[in-house]
Amino acid sequence: MLVVGSGGREHALVKSLAASPARPRVLCAPGNAGIAAEAACFPVPVDDVAGLIALAQRERAEFVVVGPEVPLSLGLVDALQRAGIPAYGPKADGARLEASKIFTKELLLKYRIPTAAAGIFDRVEPALAYVRARGAPIVVKADGLAAGKGVVVASSVAEAEEAVRAMLGGRFGASSRQILVEDCLTGEETSLLVVVSGRDYIILPTSQDHKRVGDGDTGPNTGGMGTYSPAEVVTPALLARIDREIVRPSVDAIAAEGIDFRGTLFIGVMLTPAGPSVLEFNTRFGDPETQVVLPRLASDLLALLWAAAHGRLRGFPLAVKPDYAVCVVVAARGYPDAYPKGDEITLPAALPPQTSIIHAGTARDSAGRLVTHGGRVLGVTALAPTLREAADRAYAACAAIGCASKYFRRDIGARQLSRP
Ligand code: AMP
Ligand code: GLY
Repeated sequence: MLVVGSGGREHALVKSLAASPARPRVLCAPGNAGIAAEAACFPVPVDDVAGLIALAQRERAEFVVVGPEVPLSLGLVDALQRAGIPAYGPKADGARLEASKIFTKELLLKYRIPTAAAGIFDRVEPALAYVRARGAPIVVKADGLAAGKGVVVASSVAEAEEAVRAMLGGRFGASSRQILVEDCLTGEETSLLVVVSGRDYIILPTSQDHKRVGDGDTGPNTGGMGTYSPAEVVTPALLARIDREIVRPSVDAIAAEGIDFRGTLFIGVMLTPAGPSVLEFNTRFGDPETQVVLPRLASDLLALLWAAAHGRLRGFPLAVKPDYAVCVVVAARGYPDAYPKGDEITLPAALPPQTSIIHAGTARDSAGRLVTHGGRVLGVTALAPTLREAADRAYAACAAIGCASKYFRRDIGARQLSRP
């Protein structure tokens, strides 16, 4: 089987899939230095749909799991289907739920699924008038994919105006030809990963990401600096409510729009004082949510994804371990802005129990040394019977990693740990 992608999410996918009792031969394109230790890697970029099809055919892949959003929105799964190769991940029509925030907002409003009120704009003046009328705080979002940088949560009208001008002025090219300006919601966020197959779905264990770069949720937004699972802020009663008010209606709405969605629907939920509300849909596993959710599954991930891809998800017996999981992202200092590349990494010879190092932005240099190759470099994932022990294990491993530009948040899981 072939896994497409090169980040921490894909390393976690490769690990879990390779552990399947079906004992698959796992390939990855393009992969990274850590994935290369567990799967044969092929240097085909994720946006090269024709190249990926050719690779899958040449290697006789019997199943493809697509990690990132870009190949999904380019129609990789559509092309695999035409080539007769089963794949996990939505086709381009489903991937639009992530690739166009306006498409999703209109769907949510049409089906009365809770989400922030928003205006849609393609011209600067009406957008500025809307910003001034609504006041701050207010959120400005590019419609299309922007590598996680397309959302500005503005605390002042001036900041929102700046974002409107920059985005409609072409900051993200075609992705910001249209924008959303939406009300700012407050509350805790949670990431819900839902494996969907048509009208059937399974909600995976809950998790919470830490999106800001600095301790105490300060500094700019990032792709995610760390996660833990379960997110106990989502009590069983709250999960039932989210299922009833958001998950079931969303899955039904997507099907009613004629989309046969077979993949991960990642629902970003804000737990507002007025109830849960949808922040966004992604159409893939979260990164770094995947790094804490997959290790907690006692079921065979390969069987789960295969069942979803083949429309046979109903009745799938998902089993979850009672353990807590923590993932601390080790980034290159400077991320999400400019950061160095090519710094040597030395990994600890021994790790605490149930602790593993997931590679994200790593590579081998010409001398074969392990070096940094991206903003998020590694993810240290630990499982333990308590959240405290899981965090202690992950942090012990983080401390033992050698790298001149190493940076990580010190407070992953702290919010849940400090709850009475
Ligand atoms: P998105 O890519 O839409 O999830 O936005 C990225 C991040 O921006 C989210 O995870 C939230 O932290 C924040 N965000 C997005 N929309 C809103 C909103 N309406 N109110 C407050 N924060 C938001
Ligand atoms: N961790 C958030 C995301 O994957 O988009």
